[in-house]
Amino acid sequence: MPPAVADYLKSNQDRFLAELQALLRIPSVSADPAFQPAMQQAAAFVHQQFESMGLTAEIVPTAGHPIVYAEWLKKPGAPTVLIYGHYDVQPPDPLDLWTTPAFEPTIRDGKLFARGATDDKGQFFTHLKGAEAWLKTVGELPVNVKFVIEGEEEVGGANLDKFLADRKSQLACDVAVISDTSQYAPGIPAITYGLRGIIACEVTLTGPKKDLHSGVFGGSVANPVNMLCRLVAQLHDDQGRVQIPGFYEDVLELTPAEREQFAALPFDEAAYRKELGVTTVAGEAGFTTLERRWARPTCDVNGMFGGYTGVGPKTIVPSKATAKITCRLVPFQDPAKITQSLEQFLRTRCPAGVSLTFTDFHGCPAFVFDPTSPYLTAAKAAIREGFGAEPVLIREGGSIPVVSTLKQILGVDTLLLGWGLNTDNLHSPDEHFTIADFHRGIASSAALWPHIAKL
Ligand code: BES
Ligand code: MN
Ligand code: MN
Repeated sequence: MPPAVADYLKSNQDRFLAELQALLRIPSVSADPAFQPAMQQAAAFVHQQFESMGLTAEIVPTAGHPIVYAEWLKKPGAPTVLIYGHYDVQPPDPLDLWTTPAFEPTIRDGKLFARGATDDKGQFFTHLKGAEAWLKTVGELPVNVKFVIEGEEEVGGANLDKFLADRKSQLACDVAVISDTSQYAPGIPAITYGLRGIIACEVTLTGPKKDLHSGVFGGSVANPVNMLCRLVAQLHDDQGRVQIPGFYEDVLELTPAEREQFAALPFDEAAYRKELGVTTVAGEAGFTTLERRWARPTCDVNGMFGGYTGVGPKTIVPSKATAKITCRLVPFQDPAKITQSLEQFLRTRCPAGVSLTFTDFHGCPAFVFDPTSPYLTAAKAAIREGFGAEPVLIREGGSIPVVSTLKQILGVDTLLLGWGLNTDNLHSPDEHFTIADFHRGIASSAALWPHIAKL
């Protein structure tokens, strides 16, 4: 990047951090309607940022939370890059486990602590500041850019898909860039070339019309909590294989080269167990931990409730029991087909004496990027400049629904350039972002545009 851009980045570091802190103070929790005003505020903040950079920006209302759109298209003939981010965050709960409050950004040990610090406010903000540096010094960018910053990523919202479809021609681009993943490890930046997809649903079993005395009636009617446990226990065999019929039918198997590539990454299983607080790793037999996380499909119960969950004993046969279930998907599993098979699986095995209702929340397919794409070469060069280290190619187990939509609607691949770490406590208490990584991310973003322009 030109020296003037690099100098600008250096001399504005403190202001960039202060502006990020201001954004982090806005509690933009998309899941909870109580935070609705904060969603508007966060969108307005991002919009204001774009305007002060000199971009054409608008706040696009949707049936849910607004989308902020901005563009700079003054480089005819140069490639066009679409940058996506999300300003919504996960709920901060459980609040009592935060060292300092979730929406009062605080610096400790070179890390900035706040909900959204790494997922995704701190990460998408790097691209605003990288572009700002070019515009305020050189006066132009080497490529055309279109920013889409949405507010429903954490709730699997459907409104973004409608926006992308409605504005298909306005959003036309050559490649998309998203910073909403992680580095492989501290000091080992990464480009993520694959993500898992997801389906999310809920199953409820209903037995007696109200909770019953378990002494008087127990043993004479089916207990919905017992029955739900029985159902859930059938989801896996003792080799950790998911038992839903057809579950593995469309799974893209790892190539020997990919398995070698994963195995070549430094991975300390003892440190991993310690970090997570488990005595042993577990999962589908025949696969390593990285393979299980990045390239194998899963089925997990996220939560189960029913009957009495308060303090002390209570003797009842509960009326209802619910399980929230998600499956992580890999290429080329079809979310609709898997959801249907799961519902069918549960219905077929639903014991007599309880009735079953099934709710489908949302889903998205998995994604793998062409590892020979020239965009990868450009991104590697930019990360080398920004981080001063060689990035590794990894896959990730999490999901970013927009990636498959961008492919479907706009026909483009996405470069996943993650500046965070999986130990940044995303979705957990004490979420944080290493401040040095924030600045390295900004530098990598600023460095990326000339490399893409050269392709
Ligand atoms: N940024 C994450 C996804 C992620 C994190 C990918 C770390 C790779 C590494 C994203 O905000 C997220 O949490 N996605 C949800 C999607 C769901 C709500 C549809 C997920 O993966 O659970
Ligand atoms: Mn995210
Ligand atoms: Mn998230």
